[in-house]
Amino acid sequence: MREESLDFLRAEGVSAQLLDEVLAFRKYYKLEEAEAARVPVPLYPYYGREVWEEAIGALLAGEHLLLTGGKASGKNVLAEGLAAAFGRPLWDISLYVNADAASLIGTDTFRDGEVQLRKGPVLRAAECGGFGVLDEINMAKNESLAVLHAALDFRRVIDIPGYDRVQLHEATRFIGTMNYGYAGTRELNEALASRFLVIQMPVIPEADVQRLLLGKYPTLRPEYAAQFAALFDEIRKKSESGEITSRALDLRGMIAAIGMMARGLSPVRALRLGVVNKCFDSYEQTLVSDLVAARLPESLEAGRIFA
Ligand SMILES: Nc1ncnc2c1ncn2[C@@H]1O[C@H](COP(=O)(O)OP(=O)(O)OP(=O)(O)O)[C@@H](O)[C@H]1O
Ligand SMILES: [Mg+2]
Repeated sequence: MREESLDFLRAEGVSAQLLDEVLAFRKYYKLEEAEAARVPVPLYPYYGREVWEEAIGALLAGEHLLLTGGKASGKNVLAEGLAAAFGRPLWDISLYVNADAASLIGTDTFRDGEVQLRKGPVLRAAECGGFGVLDEINMAKNESLAVLHAALDFRRVIDIPGYDRVQLHEATRFIGTMNYGYAGTRELNEALASRFLVIQMPVIPEADVQRLLLGKYPTLRPEYAAQFAALFDEIRKKSESGEITSRALDLRGMIAAIGMMARGLSPVRALRLGVVNKCFDSYEQTLVSDLVAARLPESLEAGRIFA
């Protein structure tokens, strides 16, 4: 078992009682060797003590979780971190408009001269006590998700037409993720939403952006990590006050921009690609571009920001 995934949580100040219970959970639910390979080993941690505590508390109580929030708010990073902390195999189940019950549960295939069930990811997670991440759950049609109703409530069963009913393994949990109100998303139906505990993911605070950037780019000079974090925070404030949309509030884009700087592209140009150009409205683009210019001179070279 990977103890060290809990060391980070301990250092972050996550309740010791919760962490003890997570350890007890791990000890109680043993893993088969074949499944151990599916337990994720996250490259980067999720920052946010309160969210960790709420999520761990919900999962320990046997509940399923729905993580809602803006783009790049760390929903998948957290889901992976939870599977790692609980030491459970993870199934990433990307939902899309044409996802149907068969793609989740399984399909009939012809093998060795007979019809057999080819198990889908929901069924596999259900059987071995895995954590199933129902990614972008509100992209799927509600009718396709109806097969999950009995799995996600007290019944904890999956009824497979033509086959047996499968009881969920006790350690199985489902974690839904969704962006609210984006193009292509739908309203999650109330009956489905009622089967989850919901965490609204906060925007990562400035100090944590700084830690995250230094974690990803260890040679980044701390004073520049601070500049990028402050820039991100200014964009957040402008977006929250309604001055600009949330398009430029894109931590993923900022991280990618710093990756380009590490390859020699000047910071201002890299940020244009990663952040500024995400705004399609020219007024908004100018506003964000001004925020960048106020912190980083156009002439600043990439070499200067790394040690
Ligand atoms: N609180 C946070 N802690 C750690 N990383 C974070 C946090 N918030 C955002 N990130 C970073 O943002 C990036 C995107 O994370 P992730 O893919 O989990 O986001 P998401 O919420 O699933 O986004 P989307 O809705 O666009 O799929 C990652 O590089 C991740 O490290
Ligand atoms: Mg995601």
